[in-house]
Amino acid sequence: MNQPLHLMTPEVRANPYPLYAELRRRPVCQVEPGGMWAVSRYDDVVTVLKDARRFSSAGLGQSFRPPWLEHNPTADSLVMKDPPDHTRLRTMLSRAFSGSALSRWESSIRAIAEELAEATVRRQEVDFVAEFAMPLPARVLNLFYGLEPSMALRLKRWADDLVSIPASQPSPQRMEEIRHSLAEMERCFNALIEARRASPGEDLVSELIRTEALTHEELLGFLFGLVPAGVETTVYLLANTMYVLSEHPREMERVRDNPALIPRLVEEVLRYEPPGQSSLRLTTEDVELSGVTIPRGAIVIALMGAAMRDESRFPQADRFIIDREAQSNLAFGHGPHFCLGAMLARMEARLGLEALFSRIRGFSLQRRDFAWSQSIIARGPLTLPLHLEPSRR
Ligand code: HEM
Repeated sequence: MNQPLHLMTPEVRANPYPLYAELRRRPVCQVEPGGMWAVSRYDDVVTVLKDARRFSSAGLGQSFRPPWLEHNPTADSLVMKDPPDHTRLRTMLSRAFSGSALSRWESSIRAIAEELAEATVRRQEVDFVAEFAMPLPARVLNLFYGLEPSMALRLKRWADDLVSIPASQPSPQRMEEIRHSLAEMERCFNALIEARRASPGEDLVSELIRTEALTHEELLGFLFGLVPAGVETTVYLLANTMYVLSEHPREMERVRDNPALIPRLVEEVLRYEPPGQSSLRLTTEDVELSGVTIPRGAIVIALMGAAMRDESRFPQADRFIIDREAQSNLAFGHGPHFCLGAMLARMEARLGLEALFSRIRGFSLQRRDFAWSQSIIARGPLTLPLHLEPSRR
């Protein structure tokens, strides 16, 4: 009888890929914590993510509203909804994230990236997460919301507090901090919506108000949901890129000498070391997958991180190969909940790395004993001590 595998041990958090290989040999099985059903092969993960009728996202909102937290608008955000509610809302919201809508933000995002890269490279010895990877997406979301620049740090704290809610058993003091952040967010976003209704601007909130298609609660839930969705994952995409390059110095040289390779680099990092490792669903009926029956009402963890190392889909899956043929990776999910911010995240990563690589000859990782995130969903280093070598200009 096979022992249940555990997704949350320190060894697995530091390197989940050996466990994923083991899971692909038992492609649908229960794992710890909590006896969730892990799905790890590419085709099965696609099946789960595509089928919102049998694999529901609503209901999982409860994990953002544990007994110690009476009220949390994140539980009503887009990603926690099922069709038809989800379809209607998503249609309204997706316009704001289309290519043409995003192109008007490009020069402002580049300016943020240039300013951060200049300051980061000047310091040379840096925690890359604190100096660059975190401030970039926090400031971009700040820009989208039309908030004061000083709010960027607060957005990051809010994102940290929101992602720590599911599956956590916080101390009384931590519960109080999280409740405080939620109250602060709600006050801030209510005031923002009110101000933009009275005097619309060019920001995302004004744009969504102009559509007149969303209720106040829907808009509030969306603004709450974007904070963890838009900040943490992008922080980890940037940090994972530098981590992977530190292990592949030849690839670093190639990209530095030919910045046109940056989009390919980003795609391969998204596959090889994805910031979004998994998505959770709840089965609405008994479902058979790879010959195993998952009972109704079970929590399913679709492991995109494992699926993207599936040899049947990605030859030499454990190798980091920038020149891979373009293949649809699952880093941004798949199907009805496919990441609304995928284009924005790719743009932020491209502009961020262009600004950085144009200023350095190379870099080295100073220590390998840094901690990785303790989330079952998002993966990235919490700190990344780098020594940057400025280019001679
Ligand atoms: C590298 C960065 C990012 C990664 C890896 C990522 C990953 C994902 C994944 C895997 C999903 C699907 C979740 C599911 O199926 O349950 C998702 C959904 C979503 N993401 Fe992202 N994301 C990133 C950046 C962003 C950004 C920058 C934004 C916006 C500012 C954003 C907004 C959203 C939203 C609104 C959804 C929900 C879509 C829906 O339910 O229809 N994401 N993201």
